[in-house]
Amino acid sequence: MTKRVTVPDIIAAKGKRKLTEMTAYDFPTALWVDQSGIDMILVGDSLAMVVLGHEDTLSVTMDEMLHHTSAVARTARHAMVIGDLPFLSYQVSVEQAVLNAGRFIKEARAQAVKLEGGRRVVPQIKAIVEAQIPVQGHLGLTPQSLAAFGGFKVQGKSAEAAKALIEDAQALAEAGCFSIVLEGIPSPIAAMVTEAIPIPTIGIGAGPDCDGQVLVIHDLLGLFERFTPKFVRQYARLSEQIRNALTSFREEVEKGIFPGPEHGFTIDEQEFEKLRHQDTGKH
Ligand code: KIV
Repeated sequence: MTKRVTVPDIIAAKGKRKLTEMTAYDFPTALWVDQSGIDMILVGDSLAMVVLGHEDTLSVTMDEMLHHTSAVARTARHAMVIGDLPFLSYQVSVEQAVLNAGRFIKEARAQAVKLEGGRRVVPQIKAIVEAQIPVQGHLGLTPQSLAAFGGFKVQGKSAEAAKALIEDAQALAEAGCFSIVLEGIPSPIAAMVTEAIPIPTIGIGAGPDCDGQVLVIHDLLGLFERFTPKFVRQYARLSEQIRNALTSFREEVEKGIFPGPEHGFTIDEQEFEKLRHQDTGKH
């Protein structure tokens, strides 16, 4: 039987082996990620952009996140499933944060949650961890702060901002996070953060020195074509292949090539003859 990756496994991996995390949002994506041996599946709020067609991550709701997280959680056998707390599901109060984190565990059956932010969300992290729910932190270019940042801009570029990032990471580790996603920060700063904390850092646009890497599956597979961030490597170009397949289907139907005889069902010859000799009542 496949053994599920656990929080102690993730923490113990620091300095020993590189960790992998990938987003998934439904049965097929979860199955592909799980079967490839990746450690953690993040049902990210990137769902809003790559699945639901929104401009940014801000509009996705708790109910939409739970709907997709439960599909992933009922599929994955090996990877730890992490539900991403959407915008305004944890910022307003500690109580709301615990209740919404709890919904990911109780209703969607995820094993952990992720939330964005540094020292300002430490009270929420402490309360969620206190409720026995593992938390993955998220620092740097956190997309829920898009308006405050004035766009998708690399963070931690001044000495002061980099120092604040390191202090945020230390605060998150002390608050009980089991790992921290570092997004869109200079590689040397990610290396310093990784050095400074006892829990694994998982990078996305944060260079090679993090303890692990995460990507959005639609970016990696070439399924999201609106834009491709600099830090993405496209390991496949599936949109192109899917469009070609669909165009072939349309053309073959229009030309009468599909379906062929091999796609049809037969009827016993005698039964068919009987039918042909019956008076159908038509004149
Ligand atoms: O929502 C998401 O997919 C994420 C990853 C980019 C880390 O937060």
